[in-house]
Amino acid sequence: MPNNTRQAGIVGIGSAVPDKILTNADLEKLVDTTDEWIKTRSGICERRIGTDQTAASDLATEAARAALASAGMGAEALDLIIVATVTGDSPIPSTASLVQHRIGSPRTPAFDLSAGCSGFVYALSVARGLVASGLHTNILVVGVDMLSRVTNWQDRTTCVLFGDGAGAAIVSPVGEGEGILSFCLGSDGSRGDLLRIRAGGSRLPASAQTVQDGLHSIEMSGREVFKFAVRIMGDAAVEALEKCGLTPADVDLFIPHQANIRIIEAAARRLELPDEKVFINVQKYGNTSAGSIPLAMDEAYRSGLVKKGDLVVLVGFGAGLTWAAAALRWAM
Ligand code: UT7
Repeated sequence: MPNNTRQAGIVGIGSAVPDKILTNADLEKLVDTTDEWIKTRSGICERRIGTDQTAASDLATEAARAALASAGMGAEALDLIIVATVTGDSPIPSTASLVQHRIGSPRTPAFDLSAGCSGFVYALSVARGLVASGLHTNILVVGVDMLSRVTNWQDRTTCVLFGDGAGAAIVSPVGEGEGILSFCLGSDGSRGDLLRIRAGGSRLPASAQTVQDGLHSIEMSGREVFKFAVRIMGDAAVEALEKCGLTPADVDLFIPHQANIRIIEAAARRLELPDEKVFINVQKYGNTSAGSIPLAMDEAYRSGLVKKGDLVVLVGFGAGLTWAAAALRWAM
């Protein structure tokens, strides 16, 4: 019988990015932009871009192996794999199944989850529920995206923003009072057209015409998404904290989705957090979509910025439109 009282938490984390660096100076040669514009409007200095040989499952597998090593766990101990992505290797099979095979986790159930840049926190909420209920014990949760593959490299309003990356976490039972405390998830499908790829699905299947019309790349109403993000990041973080009886004043480290430094700073102001409690690495990686939060979390942990018992808040927003915040009592 499932035991409904188990506390679930992150017991291992890892990340992976491609080696190739694309700088703002490189982008100045591709589109009508400047290093100064990109830095002041987004905070981004450079991003990582996979080679032609790299696919999402490659980054996901590397991040998964690092997370297993950090948990001191073998792949055979996993009993579920969830990969949050919107840029999987191909529509079929799932990227999660590819990762399952490549890390050598025999017969482990695996599926992909799509919630844009909020995907990792959505997947974390599924994993937390399944561990807490007793249905599963050790779940690998990966957030990975290679938005470079769906970027229109002639569109200066989007191509300067994105990068490729992955992060992974192992979610397992942890001690009382530790681990994942609460979530605030949401979506507003009425605003889905603010951030979309029009073709390649069942509405508008891939054809010579869709390719010719450039309908396989990301289209974004940046200013509208910006306004939405500034509001929702603060609201979602506060709601997740309220659900576990805490306030922003209790937060030790805020790890937001790394889309734009101005969005992060606005959310931090709303939560009245000092700079040292806000983790930022957007300058190095740009927006890595579902990879962004676990990549930031891994870097924060490896830099010694988060330790056992700290209250960590994750918050993301993205295509859907979706949003997702989580409050965690760090358990590693
Ligand atoms: O994970 C979720 C994904 N999405 C996001 O997080 C995006 C959220 N939005 C943003 O981050 C910002 O809206 C952007 C960084 C995309 C844009 O910044 P902004 O301050 O909102 O600029 P804007 O869109 O209002 O554009 C200002 C000007 C425009 O020129 P005009 O119309 O004022 O003459 C743009 O055409 O900047 C121009 N512009 C550029 N100039 C140089 C747009 N992109 C560029 C560029 N280089 N790359």
